[in-house]
Formats: sequence, structure tokens, C-alpha cells
Amino acid sequence: MKTYEYSASSALFQRAAKVIPCGVYGHFSPAPCVPIEQYPFFAARNKGARFWDVDGNEFIDYMCAYGPMVLGYMNPVVDAAYAKQMREADSASIASPRMVELAEYLVDLVPVADWAFFAKNGADVTNYAVMTARAATGRKKIVAINGGYHGTTPWMQAPGHHGVIEDDHKNMIRIPWNDAAALERAIDDNPGQIAAFIASPYHHPVFADSEMPVEGYWNRVQSLLRKHGIVLISDDVRCGFRLDMGGSNEYFGFKPDLICFCKAIGNGYPISALVGADALKNAAAKVFHTGSYWFSAGPMAAALANLKELKRLDGPRVMMEKGQKLLDGMVDIARNHGYTLKVSGAPSMPYLRITDDPSLMFHQRLCGECTRRGAFFTSHHNWFISTAHTDKDFKRTLDIFDDAFKALAEKPSEPTARAKKASAPKAPAKAKSAVKKRTVKK
Ligand SMILES: Cc1ncc(COP(=O)(O)O)c(C=O)c1O
Repeated sequence: MKTYEYSASSALFQRAAKVIPCGVYGHFSPAPCVPIEQYPFFAARNKGARFWDVDGNEFIDYMCAYGPMVLGYMNPVVDAAYAKQMREADSASIASPRMVELAEYLVDLVPVADWAFFAKNGADVTNYAVMTARAATGRKKIVAINGGYHGTTPWMQAPGHHGVIEDDHKNMIRIPWNDAAALERAIDDNPGQIAAFIASPYHHPVFADSEMPVEGYWNRVQSLLRKHGIVLISDDVRCGFRLDMGGSNEYFGFKPDLICFCKAIGNGYPISALVGADALKNAAAKVFHTGSYWFSAGPMAAALANLKELKRLDGPRVMMEKGQKLLDGMVDIARNHGYTLKVSGAPSMPYLRITDDPSLMFHQRLCGECTRRGAFFTSHHNWFISTAHTDKDFKRTLDIFDDAFKALAEKPSEPTARAKKASAPKAPAKAKSAVKKRTVKK
């Protein structure tokens, strides 16, 4: 199978490194997340579930712009709604009717929502949620999960990150995921001081398996928070609309006070939303929060069209089923090559890991080899499935996955740090994931 070269991408990266800190920032900053020789750094165009880099290489995209692409790039329905709005008005001095229509639509769609507020990025709304909880309770402290990601504002980043100071964490309490007893201890140790508990509906850290909530976890959390007047914030920025159209909390059966949405809400157009219960509407109104482009109407029109289309297609179910099909095939191929591929998280947003090499280096090389053959996988982050991925894409992806194992078997001198299993089990096994299971037993 042909492998890709990235000469135009590399040349552009050299130019970028001179004028942009780090060349490419964020998740796709080369070290330590992606080996530079195996990945493209600049895309020229995209359509459906695919993109083409500046060297003309074609990729089936399993990162989906890190989540926003949910109906496929250049979706005609969403793009037509956006284009129509852009012919009328986008950024203006005052808000557009689309803002009201989108808020009304979300209030109908999301059972816990009595109101909605719009911004651009996930961190805009996780920050606004925390400010709203503080305004409502008059308390300072926030409980969050170890390894839980909520954006890049200093309080959200891990202590020790560059530019983050101790004071930024003074009011943050971090506890382990799936540990309601730790939450109870935090509440007991800080009586009357905790404004909010913020967590994703299920735990999806980087460089580690995703973890579903254990049975009873959200019930226990919810009742502890209610008892102590603490606001429950569901950070649904990443998995929102890939598990349930009403918010991922509906999938797991709990009722937050505030839900943060971003990524899949606009199929790539820049918009995020905070929705909340009536009891917090006045507090939200008192918090001053806005930005230069937060009234821009194009992304609101796109979000309305995107959500309606996702609902019409039963998007979350479709993505779960598509994801499961691909993952089952991948697990079988890995097994045929003598490896164990562990799948965790929702099939519409899976995290994968070859367990034979705990250093994750083999997994990183495997993802790189797949990418160089046209299946765009990263090794450190969960992947995303869209409704635009097709059976043909999956067939091609499985062929690529198979070929990548063969290529690595031919390069034993490179560090794989694994011991190939003496004999591979013959029977195909299903990927262990959560199509039907909403919680896991501990
Ligand atoms: C769960 C979660 N919350 C918040 C954010 C921050 O979103 P943004 O990068 O749009 O600010 C992210 C981004 O990946 C996320 O996954």
C-alpha cells in the first residue's frame, strides 16, 4: 500500500515555526502528541468524512476537526442555511432573530434547558457556567475531576502548566472520577464553600482509557449536590449530540443544572451554548459575559440547521452504530496480528489503545502508519465518528489498519516494546463498548 509524503506540509510548517509560537498550537502541536514524519499539518480542503492535505493526500478523517464535524464537511443543508444567513447579516451591532430561534429550539430539544446563551468556544461556556454558579451561590470553590478537561482558561488547566499560577487553583478541588465518596469528603471538608461540581457526562481524558460512570454514580452525585445547594455543571462540550440529542446526561439518566455544548452543535461553524434550568436564569443574567463575535448570526443559522438535521437522521444512534461496526472490525484485525486493541468510551467517540505496549509507543506508531496510508488517527485523544462515514470508508480503513500492522511487523528494529502473543485466539470478539450499556459496574 502506498504511503504518503508530506513535503508541502513540512515546508509550510518550517514557515509557520518562524512566525507562530510552536508552529502549530494546541492538540496538534508536533511534540509529544504526533510524530512529525507521519502526519500532515495543513489541510487544503475537505468534504464529507474526508480531507485533503496541502500535498494532495486524501484522508478518511476520524478526528472530525476534534469533534465539530458531525454531519460531514460541507454538509449541503447546513452550508445552505449558513450561506443564506450570510447574505442577510452576520456580525451586526445588535443581535439577530436567529439567536432567539436557536434558544427556543434548544429549550425544546434539551429537557433540562429553560434558557440558552451563545458564545464561540467550549471554554467560553464552561467559564460562564462556573461564574453563574458562583453568582447564584455566593461561594468560591469548584470541584472538578482529575484529568477532566474544560478548556484553557487558567483555572481549567492542570497545576504546573506554563503561565498558570498557584492562585489560579486556590479555589479548585480535584477529585478522582467515579468516586462519589471523594465528592462527599470534599463537601464535608469545605462546608458551605462549594459553588459547583463540573464534570463531563463520562470521563474522556487524553493518553488514557475513557471511563463510563459506574452504576449509581450520577444519582449519588446529584443527590449530594442537591442536598448541599451545589450547582451541577455537565460539560457536554465534547460528547454533546453524539450520545443523545437531549444532552449526554439523558443517555446516563441524570439532570444537571447547567449544560455546556460546543463541538457538534454547529457542524464546524463557530458557536457554543450554555443551557440551564430556570432557577439559574437570574444569576446567569447578572454575570457579564460577551465577546466580539458572540452575536454573529451565520453560525446560529448553521447550528439550527445542523441540530434539526441531526435529529431528523437520529444522528447519535447512527453514529453509535457506525462506530461499533468499525471498532468490531478493528479489534478483529488487531487480534489476527496477535495484539489486543482496547476500546473504551462511546462508539461514536471511542478511545483506542493497543494494550500490549503500556508505553503507548507501538500504538502511536500504528496510528501514524494508518495516517500515512489515509486513515487519519491520533493516538493520544479519543476519535470521533460522524454520520458521513460510510461502509466504504470503513472497508478502506480496515484494509489500511491491516496493512499498518504488516508494515510494523517488517520493522522490528524500531522500538515496539511489546511481546507478540504466542498464539492469537481464532474467534472474533466484539469491541467492548457502550452501545447499550449506559453505566459500568465497578
Ligand atoms: C470536555 C471539554 N470541555 C471544554 C473544552 C474546551 O473547548 P474549546 O477548546 O472550544 O474552548 C473541550 C475541548 O476539547 C472539551 O473537550
